[in-house]
Amino acid sequence: MNASLPILGAFDLRDGSIAADDRLIDSFGRVHNNLRISVTDRCNIRCSYCMPEAVAFMPRSDLLSFEEIVRFARVAAGLGIDKIRLTGGEPLVRRDLPKLVAMLAEIAGIKDIGLTTNGILLADLAADLWNAGLRRINVSLDTMNPAKFVEITRRPGFEQVIEGILRARQVGFDPVKINALAIKNFTEDEVIPLAEFARSNGLEIRFIEYMPLDEVGRWRRSMVLFAADILEILTKGIGPLAPAADNDPRAPALDYVYADGRGRVGMIASVSRPFCMSCNRIRLTADGKLRNCLFAVEETDVRALLRGGERDESIALALRASVAGKLEGHEINSARFVKPDRLMHSIGG
Ligand code: 5AD
Ligand code: SF4
Repeated sequence: MNASLPILGAFDLRDGSIAADDRLIDSFGRVHNNLRISVTDRCNIRCSYCMPEAVAFMPRSDLLSFEEIVRFARVAAGLGIDKIRLTGGEPLVRRDLPKLVAMLAEIAGIKDIGLTTNGILLADLAADLWNAGLRRINVSLDTMNPAKFVEITRRPGFEQVIEGILRARQVGFDPVKINALAIKNFTEDEVIPLAEFARSNGLEIRFIEYMPLDEVGRWRRSMVLFAADILEILTKGIGPLAPAADNDPRAPALDYVYADGRGRVGMIASVSRPFCMSCNRIRLTADGKLRNCLFAVEETDVRALLRGGERDESIALALRASVAGKLEGHEINSARFVKPDRLMHSIGG
């Protein structure tokens, strides 16, 4: 790198790329280019695998402002982060979210911005999000049965979610991805209706094995419907599936395509086939804590740096230190597993 250039960003300004040794590489050689930003821990529904019915949300003054989020993202982009995903709680309950998307889209080096939403408010916001520069959208939907929707989310809203998904397709999002939790004794009957809904509306569906990120003591391994079981249900109910030729080795989902060529299904087998060794993600919580893993028990207080008058270099150092200290992976399948103190809605998924 040219010595006369500022040291903060690791951009090699001659060609816009990041010098290889300035990237966020951990002690296992994993390169981190993917930042998930939670913009609120609040949610307009109450999925039981994510949070209890009654929760104390963060005081609003604890939340990072859009300016603080963008400053952190800019520093992270200087260290090789080129993908951002906005999460919650429910990100669309944060006021003016399309504005944040537009601000992030302007950061040099950010190639890709995505959003994971429950879809309740999506119909109204889809066009604004598209116009702000968002191109990837994942909507959580665990059932095509309105009564079971209420059972799992403890709130009405099924029709709004469907409307939101269809509107997102109309304004140009392609694909829209559906995230469905895979829970034993709940998901078996949902697999085919969800997959058919996806196939007939140009959506990609991904089934996510239920992970211990909710209330302590609720999760049991026996409550997870495994990817292998889902594949069997799909094969019997719809037809044979083959692993997709273009599977991204860094992505958590293993994708399958139907033999008839119509549609794609992803399996996020976090429990039965942990993908920690190809993890490229770091996470910023809504209250400005940096987490190097969904299951991290330690976090870095980025908000204190942002609000304490620290220079960008200090934030970059904290980022490096966090990634350097990243552990090998979760131990969901072992007796050593320690559940993080935070619930899923306050980590961001
Ligand atoms: N296990 C797996 N996935 C979860 N999500 C929320 N809680 C859990 C859990 N306990 C997923 C939701 C949503 C995303 C934000 O995280 O399905 O798609
Ligand atoms: Fe809300 Fe998402 Fe948690 Fe469901 S999973 S309660 S939609 S934050």
